[in-house]
Amino acid sequence: MALIEFENVSYKMPNEVLALEKVNLRVDEGELVAIVGGNGAGKTTLLKHMNGLLKPVTGTVRVKGKPTTESSVAELSKQIGLVFQNSDHQLFSESVKEEVAFGLRNFGFPPSEVEERVARALNAFGLGQMSDRAPLTLSGGEKKRLCIALVTAWDPIVLALDEPTVGQDHLNKVRLLELVRRLIRDKRTVLIVSHDLEFLWPLQPRTVVMSGGRIVADGPAASIFTNFELLESSGLRQPQLARLAVALESPSPFRDVDEAVAWLREKNGPWSSGSQTAFGKG
Ligand SMILES: Nc1ncnc2c1ncn2[C@@H]1O[C@H](COP(=O)(O)OP(=O)(O)O)[C@@H](O)[C@H]1O
Ligand SMILES: [Mg+2]
Repeated sequence: MALIEFENVSYKMPNEVLALEKVNLRVDEGELVAIVGGNGAGKTTLLKHMNGLLKPVTGTVRVKGKPTTESSVAELSKQIGLVFQNSDHQLFSESVKEEVAFGLRNFGFPPSEVEERVARALNAFGLGQMSDRAPLTLSGGEKKRLCIALVTAWDPIVLALDEPTVGQDHLNKVRLLELVRRLIRDKRTVLIVSHDLEFLWPLQPRTVVMSGGRIVADGPAASIFTNFELLESSGLRQPQLARLAVALESPSPFRDVDEAVAWLREKNGPWSSGSQTAFGKG
C-alpha cells in the first residue's frame, strides 16, 4: 500500500485559481522526494493536502489507504509532520520548550514522556540552551530549527519541509542536509519542497517537478536536473554540478566538486594531477 497517494486531485483557490490540476502522485515509505517548481507552481498546496489542511475539490488523497476527508487534521498531522515555509506561522508559545511540549501534549503523550522528548528534540537541534527563550526572539535559522525540532519530536512517519533553506546560511543548510540524511538512514520518509536545486543536488532525491498546478515530470535527480529545457520552462535554475556533468559528458552525476575533480584526473591520466594549482602556487 502506498503511504501517500494522490488520485486525480484538483484544487481551486477561493479566487478560482486552479492551484492543483489532475495530480497523480504516489509516495512510499522510506522515500526521499523533492518537489520542485517556480513560485505559484502549487507545491505548498500539494503539501497542505497531505496533512488535511486542504481537502481536494475533486479526486482523492489517501494516507495509508484512508481518504483525508475521513480524518481530522490532528490525526493526519501526527503522521505527516509539516514544517511551514514561514516559521512565524508555526510558532505561538511563550517559550521554546513550551513550543515543543504543546504539540506532544496535544497528541496525548504522557507528561514524563513529553519532558523527555522535549529535551531530546531541543538538544538534537542545538536549542537546549535556549529552552526558556521566547520563540519570536530567535534568529531566522534558530526558528527554523525549532520548527523542525517540534515536528520531529512526535516522530511523524513523514517529515514534510516547505522551502526549508529560505533565509538559511551555509552552516544551517549543511545541518539540514545531515538531518535529512539521518532521517533517510532511519527509514523515515522525507518530502522537501524547494526551488533551491543546488541544495537538493547532493541528496540526489527522486524529484517531482510542478508547473501551473500540474506535475510535469517525476524521476531521479540525475535525469531531471540534467534536463535544462525542463528546468528552464519550470522557472528553475540548473545546479552547477549538473551543468558540469552534462558539459563533460560524464556517465554519472558528480555529488560534489571533489568527485568531479577525481573523475577528470582519472580521465586525463596522471599528468594532470600535478598541475591543479590554477589559483595557487604552481
Ligand atoms: N490563499 C490564497 N488565495 C488565492 N490564491 C492563492 C492562495 N494561496 C495560493 N494561491 C495561488 O495558488 C497557486 C499555488 O500556490 P502555492 O501552492 O502557494 O505555490 P508554490 O508553493 O509552488 O509557490 C498560485 O497561483 C497562488 O497564487
Ligand atoms: Mg510555497
